[in-house]
Amino acid sequence: MGDTPSQDAARARHVAIIMDGNGRWAKKRGLPRSVGHQRGVEAVRKLVRSLDGSGLDCLTLYAFSSENWKRSEDEVDDLMNLMRKFIKSDLQQFIDNKVRLKIIGDWQSLAPDIVEMLEDALEKTSQGSHTVAVALNYGSQQEIARAAAKAAAIGDVNEASIAANLDTNDLPPLDLLIRTSGEIRLSNFLLWQSAYAEMLFVDTLWPDFTPEMLETALDDFARRERRFGGR
Ligand code: IPE
Ligand code: IPE
Ligand code: MG
Repeated sequence: MGDTPSQDAARARHVAIIMDGNGRWAKKRGLPRSVGHQRGVEAVRKLVRSLDGSGLDCLTLYAFSSENWKRSEDEVDDLMNLMRKFIKSDLQQFIDNKVRLKIIGDWQSLAPDIVEMLEDALEKTSQGSHTVAVALNYGSQQEIARAAAKAAAIGDVNEASIAANLDTNDLPPLDLLIRTSGEIRLSNFLLWQSAYAEMLFVDTLWPDFTPEMLETALDDFARRERRFGGR
């Protein structure tokens, strides 16, 4: 990801979302957390299908953090199985909608069958015109440490060389970071990339988040004045 901010500040090119609140959505309805995650996948599906008209070049979605392994084995299994199902059911949609899939995080250490499915999906979507980057087994501190180690290996540690080795190195600068569910924290997501990103925290639980809400967020973004330290 380059260091130069978007020239046209009014139009967001890259939005990232911390998709939080599936568990609380289910709990409110007396349903198991797994149903909340299923409905969360539905929200992702609708959003990805709406991307074509949004003007966005890239949408980055936090799907599974490196800290989410702390959850029960059942919940982790549910999440991994949902991932398998989603890739199977939606890969063709991605291709048809000209979505280029990208994965950030330590995804190569997921179960071998998932790695294989993801490799296949990455290859089949490589010609897409807008990017959906999914953060899987992602932790921002780990990403920065990996990038710094690579920069150190070539004896050149500075902002540019670290940025060049982040998982996001081929994505546009992050314009807007959204978190659902009312929590106001970053939970180890895109710490480096958020240096000058605008932030939006909404109370909506992730399964209730709609493409119209993204539109509203983009309108809100367009009215903000970005300064990047200057005047
Ligand atoms: C987000 O919803 C999904 C993942 C972290 C995988 P949560 O499962 O964190 O839902 P809450 O925060 O418990 O409501
Ligand atoms: C962040 O949500 C991770 C994802 C949305 C994938 P969490 O629910 O894991 O974050 P904390 O634990 O509330 O900070
Ligand atoms: Mg949560």
